[in-house]
Amino acid sequence: MRGLVLSGGKGTRLYPLTYTRAKQLIPVANKPVLVRVIETIRDAGVAEIGVVIGQTGAEIREALGDGSRWGVAITYIPQEQPLGLAHAVKIARDFLQDEPFVMFLGDNVIQGGISGLIRDFTNHAWNSQIVLKAVDNPSSFGVAKLRPDGTIEQLIEKPKEPPSNLALVGIYMFDRHIFEAVNAITPSWRGELEITDAIQWLIEHGYVVSPHVHTGWWIDTGKPTDMLEANSYVLDEITPYIDPSAVIENSEVDRRVTVEAGARIFNSTIHGPTIIGEGTLIENSYIGPYTSIYHHVTIKSCEIDRSIVLENSAIESPNARLYGCLIGRNVTVQPRQARPRTLTMNLGDYSNLWMV
Ligand code: TTP
Repeated sequence: MRGLVLSGGKGTRLYPLTYTRAKQLIPVANKPVLVRVIETIRDAGVAEIGVVIGQTGAEIREALGDGSRWGVAITYIPQEQPLGLAHAVKIARDFLQDEPFVMFLGDNVIQGGISGLIRDFTNHAWNSQIVLKAVDNPSSFGVAKLRPDGTIEQLIEKPKEPPSNLALVGIYMFDRHIFEAVNAITPSWRGELEITDAIQWLIEHGYVVSPHVHTGWWIDTGKPTDMLEANSYVLDEITPYIDPSAVIENSEVDRRVTVEAGARIFNSTIHGPTIIGEGTLIENSYIGPYTSIYHHVTIKSCEIDRSIVLENSAIESPNARLYGCLIGRNVTVQPRQARPRTLTMNLGDYSNLWMV
């Protein structure tokens, strides 16, 4: 069994953060989503992983290297353009050879891992296994229509009138017959080779595609609100610890807070689940639940909760409380000392600001 992780694409829905960075490298609970994907696949016993990369390939290579840090061997598969998930399968043929494989979208986070799924797929004579999840907004996803006996009748990509609420989760298992399918289908109206069309082709040509309905949480981290939600779910599940090198003085830090190496916390209150990153400084502040502060951040005179702050940023906000924020790298937020006492901004393209 091999792994195929899709880490190309543009990430337009996460602008401005993804102007300058691959969306799969944005951290959730201080670990990039893509690293969580690699660990999930490794934990299911799959050690040979192909990673499809696009225009952000250089930084993905830099982040993952040869995979040895996680005990896996990574092969990079450059994709010239994001021409669709089925196109990514097509160009991965040389790497995958004729082995069965699990394909995992590099921006998906799922509860409970995939060991059970891989075991089921290995123990059955299925040609493919797909994962479904009941969602409130099926029109935003590929959707499955099941027959009364639970087998799949039809798969439709982002239907206007969804036949069910069962969305396709970004985890798929295939045997070599998928290559017949991806070679047979043609691009959709949006110009992509759709994986839903390829799976539909398998069904129509008599191959066995088994659906598994996932009951835990699953997040496709496409939009900023998804990132915050994924962050909350993962923070709820990690085992908190306080690194011995952290310095905590005159502060209240509850038992659901993780404090990473070299972090310093002075005169502050921190409520978990929350994670404070390596080398970060927190002073005279309140950090509320469901917040991830990444490494080498400075937070002074600030109240912040349900937020993600990326590396090397500095935040000082004595007068306004911050909530639901996704703050990028090297950002500064500070009070304006000089008059006029205005709000002064230097925002990148596609930034959002909500004011009271
Ligand atoms: P999407 O979220 O469908 O696409 P995107 O990353 O371009 O995002 P946006 O819609 O915000 O512009 O992609 C799902 C995952 O698959 C993501 O990790 C990127 C990856 N992908 C590829 O590697 N190759 C492709 O051709 C496509 C379409 C996506």
